[in-house]
Amino acid sequence: MDFRHQISAPDSLAGLSCDALVLVVTGAAVAPTLAAPLAAALSDALAQGDLTLKAGKSIYLHRPVGIRAPRVVFAMAGAATAKAFKAAVANGIGHVKDLGAKHVAVGYAGTELLTDAHAEAAVAAVREATYVYRHTKPSAPAASTISKVTLLCSKPEAKAVQQGLARGHAIGAGVTLARECANRPGNHCTPSYLAEQAKKLGKEYALKVEVLDRKACEKLGMGSFLSVAQGSEEPLRFIVARYDGAAKSQAPVVLVGKGITFDTGGISLKPGAEMDEMKFDMGGAASVLGTLRAVAELKPRLNLVCIIPSCENMPSGNAVKPGDVVKSMSGQTIEILNTDAEGRLILCDALTYAERFKPAVVVDVATLTGACVVALGNHHSGLFTADDKIAAQMLAASQAGLDPCWRMPLDEEYDEGLKSNFADMANIGGRAGGAITAAMFLRRFTGKYPWAHLDVAGTAWKSGAAKGSTGRPVPLLTHFVLAQVG
Ligand code: BES
Ligand code: MN
Ligand code: ZN
Repeated sequence: MDFRHQISAPDSLAGLSCDALVLVVTGAAVAPTLAAPLAAALSDALAQGDLTLKAGKSIYLHRPVGIRAPRVVFAMAGAATAKAFKAAVANGIGHVKDLGAKHVAVGYAGTELLTDAHAEAAVAAVREATYVYRHTKPSAPAASTISKVTLLCSKPEAKAVQQGLARGHAIGAGVTLARECANRPGNHCTPSYLAEQAKKLGKEYALKVEVLDRKACEKLGMGSFLSVAQGSEEPLRFIVARYDGAAKSQAPVVLVGKGITFDTGGISLKPGAEMDEMKFDMGGAASVLGTLRAVAELKPRLNLVCIIPSCENMPSGNAVKPGDVVKSMSGQTIEILNTDAEGRLILCDALTYAERFKPAVVVDVATLTGACVVALGNHHSGLFTADDKIAAQMLAASQAGLDPCWRMPLDEEYDEGLKSNFADMANIGGRAGGAITAAMFLRRFTGKYPWAHLDVAGTAWKSGAAKGSTGRPVPLLTHFVLAQVG
């Protein structure tokens, strides 16, 4: 899909050539600058009560009189913000995406200011509204015919809009990559598949990609990661991909993504209901690959290292058992009290491996705990960090990317529950505050660099009728990484 800006005044919109015109309306009245035929159509719809000036409302007009575009949508936004613009554009695109329109023009009906954030949001809205998963369902409805989207803006807005479109395009492609990986079932998206995706990105963007197998991980002493992988016939992969956009001497940003391609729970087997959704347990890894793609596309002057420990968590005669004690790469021993708390077991060795890059900052992303879903639901990802500066940067990135996260506590007191009589730590604490205990476990492996952890168990995918990957938190991570340019 091609996204461009087009300079056009509101009073010239009646003559605009496109297959569909989506106009976002804010405020309480019809803008006086709007071209007369459009203003008349809008006023009439309001007068008839077919449309009200309320966020979320919209109306589709077919061949309205005096307007060149054969399809016009008015979509209401509650405010002139990028967030409200995104919701209105998504709503508007919903009307026309399946009508055969190729070229859609999008803009404000009034003279509200379009910023780079608006442009980025518009791209996200269109991509989200038109994404279809087809890989294992070729009979799915065909992808939308929309091939070109132009954002209507004024001349002074054009530069910012263009930048926003470029960023939106890169992030959108990253989100789509993450969704494509995560939506694939566990028999398609295996650890080897994730490694192939990383290698493919490497070829496309001239990145250094290294894939370690079991033997290499054994050499490194990753006893914790290996213990999770040992129950599965599917070979593990430890993926390391680097984007070098700055001098070698510059400390890199490191992203670590949980890549459990299927989580049965292991010997601590999960109940059957909704277990299929545990194919999404590599959502962290997918988002790291998506972010890598977005960053490689945007070419910021910084270094980025992506680390993905990937395996299945399966029960078998070889599987790790409750009570088993394993030695992590850090040298610390772990008593595995619950084999279903496997995410932290694979991440801890990746976090130790990250030390060799002398990182400026490390962020890990994981569908780590059901407790995080209980705490925050499906809107905010959980953010854990002891570093106030990183917390502020992550929250700012989440706002900029319209990809919300919420800071959770990480006080020493929560570490209490991880005590074990047989190892340096247990892999679980009590039920209460489970998302925090998991973060406290990870924290024990991150002493050598500034660190943050994102628990995306509630946000990486949707359940129910709209079941599928969201591609989150690619927007948040990309904004965070871009903001690290010195
Ligand atoms: N992948 C799950 C977390 C999860 C569960 C994400 C449900 C989304 C929905 C993780 O590996 C897990 O099983 N965590 C356990 C930890 C517990 C055993 C301490 C959990 O949350 O139940
Ligand atoms: Mn689990
Ligand atoms: Zn898991």
